[in-house]
Amino acid sequence: MATVTGNSAAAVQKAGEILRSGGLVSFPTETVYGLGADATNGRAVARIFEAKKRPSFNPLIVHVPDEKAARQIAIFDERASILAATLWPGPLTLILPKAQNSGISDLVTAGLDTVAVRMPDHDLARAILKEAGVPIAAPSANPSGRVSPTAPGHVSDGLGAAVDLIVAGGRTSVGIESTILDLSGPRPRLLRPGAVLAADIESLIGPIDHGGSDAGDEGRPTAPGQLPSHYAPHAPVRLNAQSARPGEILITFGPDLRKGDGVINLSEKGDLLEAAANLFAALIAADRPGMSGIAVTEIPDQGIGLAINDRLRRAAAPRS
Ligand code: TXA
Ligand code: MG
Repeated sequence: MATVTGNSAAAVQKAGEILRSGGLVSFPTETVYGLGADATNGRAVARIFEAKKRPSFNPLIVHVPDEKAARQIAIFDERASILAATLWPGPLTLILPKAQNSGISDLVTAGLDTVAVRMPDHDLARAILKEAGVPIAAPSANPSGRVSPTAPGHVSDGLGAAVDLIVAGGRTSVGIESTILDLSGPRPRLLRPGAVLAADIESLIGPIDHGGSDAGDEGRPTAPGQLPSHYAPHAPVRLNAQSARPGEILITFGPDLRKGDGVINLSEKGDLLEAAANLFAALIAADRPGMSGIAVTEIPDQGIGLAINDRLRRAAAPRS
């Protein structure tokens, strides 16, 4: 089993040492737990794919402690500068042209000439990134195709011995992965909805395209409009359910009289931010042996509800 350590100066130092020497460290961010490795070390990055059992070399997000470190690996235009100044640190990943001499392994970018960068809004994460002193490639710390981890126990259950160190920092506050915005072309494109809303971005840099999609956790290329199956629990997921069928666990949202063992409420108050924070833990908790499926009631498709519904549709998509 991986060593699990708490949030202390010694833990940060240990994490930095392991990362610099090519090891794998799982650490919390405000969105989900990441599985980090030195992005300049191809062998270390290869271990991420091995640990997650990712079937293909899907590009990874590079995490940095500050904007200066981001500018060493990516080329910022005015749009990127405005967004970074306003929304970083925060759950926003920018796809930018890769800087010359960035030192980033081709395995991180899957050979593309763009790189995904993000500065997490999480003190412990940024302390570890600073201590490491190298850019850190970090996908979500889950086995490929499974639900992203929002608590340290999810990481040890899913990846266990494949990780050298898990730095435990409690449950993550946002609960779903960062918004991904592609700024590599003339027109900005939203690739994955998240807690930074499209409207927040548009108010700063003008209209963005909404049609894009990221490669997803499995890294399978997708045809337009096709949803890759990922974020998936083992049990089948049924959306917009009115009620649970026999054998199903019910996930609900908002004031709901149904309570008890087979019911998980994402937010009794009807608060979408709280629902996002609880989503992946609810899917993991609902994925009980002996149950035949997970029924989810309708979630309002507005604000961060758009990102919640994006992840739910992927969880419910047909599996290959
Ligand atoms: O909140 C998050 O973003 C979390 C935490 C750990 O920071 N990380 C995360 O990473 O969700 P991951 O690997 O699970 O998702 C990264 C997504 C993938 O869908 C990948 O296709 C996309 O980012 N991506 C990475 N680099 C890209 C690039 N150069 N061009 C287009 N998409 C890229
Ligand atoms: Mg992921």
